[in-house]
Amino acid sequence: MEDRLTFSRMTVEDLPEVLRIEQESFPSPWSQAMFERDILHNPLAHINTAREYDRIVGYYSLWKIVDEGHLVTLAVDPPLRRRGLGELICREVIRQAGELGVRKITLEVRETNRDAIRLYSRFGFIKAGVRLKYYEDTTDAWIMDLEVSPHHAHEASA
Ligand SMILES: CC(C)(COP(=O)(O)OP(=O)(O)OC[C@H]1O[C@@H](n2cnc3c(N)ncnc32)[C@H](O)[C@@H]1OP(=O)(O)O)[C@@H](O)C(=O)NCCC(=O)NCCS
Repeated sequence: MEDRLTFSRMTVEDLPEVLRIEQESFPSPWSQAMFERDILHNPLAHINTAREYDRIVGYYSLWKIVDEGHLVTLAVDPPLRRRGLGELICREVIRQAGELGVRKITLEVRETNRDAIRLYSRFGFIKAGVRLKYYEDTTDAWIMDLEVSPHHAHEASA
């Protein structure tokens, strides 16, 4: 089941496809320059694509800041949603976080983004706070956290 997706470090060659998914996924999408920053210049960023049969189906970026992992983006190509890909990508994020020695993963999500909140909750992320009017359109952000236990590093084949 895990072999369904292949994860590899995002490259600038991936950006046309990634930017299309990004623009279809977020009200305030990341620009090409923001992705290039993570790919080329940000030593904290673990930014990976997920491929199914060589096609990019999703991606994420996890920033390791001291012993915290900040999940700054995660998306699945819209026509391919609700097939379990978000779950597989989330599982890889948690596995990689364990491998990196991250103790806690934290993220911000629009309070209106019920699909994402359900996904994160399924993995045990808990609402840890609210950032009022965090987004440009004044939507609040939920902060969601997951305590990473050592066994998470070995969960790839669970
Ligand atoms: C949030 C997001 C990543 C989820 O991706 P996804 O691939 O749809 O996730 P999954 O398929 O694993 O799960 C989604 C739902 O499909 C269901 N599902 C999974 N496999 C299924 C299948 N074969 N048939 C039917 N339903 C299925 C899951 O049970 C889940 O149901 P639920 O929402 O009622 O709990 C995706 O909606 C997305 O990219 N959103 C835009 C970007 C975004 O908001 N990112 C998060 C920012 S913090």
